[in-house]
Amino acid sequence: MEFDRQLLENFLHLGRKQPCIPFSLHIFDSLPSTNQMVWDLIAQGAKPGSVVIATQQTAGRGQWGRQWLSPAGGLYLSMAIAPQLEVTNSYQLTLASAWGIASHLRKCGITVGIKWPNDLVLNRRKLGGILTETRVFQGHITQAVIGVGINWANPVPETGINLKSWQTTQNDQAISGLEMLTAQVLLGIQSGLECLNNEGISILLSRYLHLLTNIGDHVYVNNLLGTVVGVTPEGNLRLQMAEYNRTELIKAEISVEPGTISLGYS
Ligand code: BTN
Repeated sequence: MEFDRQLLENFLHLGRKQPCIPFSLHIFDSLPSTNQMVWDLIAQGAKPGSVVIATQQTAGRGQWGRQWLSPAGGLYLSMAIAPQLEVTNSYQLTLASAWGIASHLRKCGITVGIKWPNDLVLNRRKLGGILTETRVFQGHITQAVIGVGINWANPVPETGINLKSWQTTQNDQAISGLEMLTAQVLLGIQSGLECLNNEGISILLSRYLHLLTNIGDHVYVNNLLGTVVGVTPEGNLRLQMAEYNRTELIKAEISVEPGTISLGYS
């Protein structure tokens, strides 16, 4: 499957003379991992805004050390950024990217939601995911790579959904192809990061929570039932636990870090 660079650049120019964002695009047929390629380019001096796109990956990386199956037809891209954040806030990059991408797709009429912390969901199924990797020096993030995988026309498992087929069921072709989807994702990441930088985590978090599909979900932690009530500024999931203290029902709130519990797909 050919990726049309010119078409992507046209979408990014959005009718203006200059692209609104200084993305530097590196497009490949096949790579082990676009995240790894961005790190390799950074080692060779690549600047923030460098973007790697591959039409397929042979060793795509997912969250929690999982593999991200990446056959042709899917969107696989990674972007280099140089955030000014403390390492304890590194999840804010994922929250910002998830919100930015979801809200850009929603403007195209695609009813994307977010599943904590980093999944893009459509019709309660996984449409895509975000993997943020960081380099840290003295407690500060010096460089980061934001990697995004979205199911466009690739085969998906039972719990997944691909956007091209979904659009067919809706009789809608708002996203015309992989190049337009790529442009929306790049602009979405950019607007999410701008929101974080310019407006701050409180505003970003309120927007993220607006698109979060998990509020009110029930989940067990150490055999106790909890209800999802929100997300902390560090990206932890806030749970209200129902606990009995002898005869009295007390409600205590806890928060759990990404990767410690799974909310799953029904
Ligand atoms: C997840 O597990 O939900 C996150 C998956 C992120 C996959 C993308 S595909 C492009 C980029 N390169 C990688 O190796 N991984 C990310």
